[in-house]
Amino acid sequence: MQKQRVAIFASGTGSNAVNLIHYFKNHSEIEVVFVMSNKEDAKVLQSAKNLDVATFFLPNQQVANAEPLLDLCKEHQVDWIILAGYLRLIPSKLITFYQDKMINLHPALLPNYGGKGMYGSNVHKAVIANNENESGITIHFVNQEFDKGRIIAQFRCEIKEGDGVIELEQKIRYLEQSYLPIVVEKTILREEKRKL
Ligand code: GAR
Repeated sequence: MQKQRVAIFASGTGSNAVNLIHYFKNHSEIEVVFVMSNKEDAKVLQSAKNLDVATFFLPNQQVANAEPLLDLCKEHQVDWIILAGYLRLIPSKLITFYQDKMINLHPALLPNYGGKGMYGSNVHKAVIANNENESGITIHFVNQEFDKGRIIAQFRCEIKEGDGVIELEQKIRYLEQSYLPIVVEKTILREEKRKL
């Protein structure tokens, strides 16, 4: 079987992108073909380069349209897209093209704490402000409704008394680092076997 070709979209630090790159480095069925960021100075681009993965920067005006993204993905024969800390809206045509082939990581238990403005530490601030006693991560397919695509997996963590945004952020990072690559791997392999 030909390897499944994965593109990662990311806007920031890229700890999840780096983790995915490491995980799939010598994988027999899945490979990361490039990392795309809408931020020229995003740390993720340098980190991916250091790991010998191709990188592309597309400014916000370009990622607002499907064509530049579709051209890039088609040119590199991308089968799957992983959104790992990608903070721009995905153009509808790209979502349709990659239906059930685009996976997003969200740092909360959707459907709670999703939607506009809910990204990164904004999410953790809102969770702490509401005195929740748990939070977690959601890995889901991307559909036309922001943060509302079919859920693939969720993982939870306890919020203890005295935990603030920093402590919660650490717990969420631990869940992301532990589970995102495995869930991506299982999802891709399951879908590909289903098609045989
Ligand atoms: C991650 O916590 C991810 O769940 C979150 O951004 C962070 C990116 O970290 N994504 C969202 O908030 C999407 N709505 P990273 O750049 O170190 O991977």
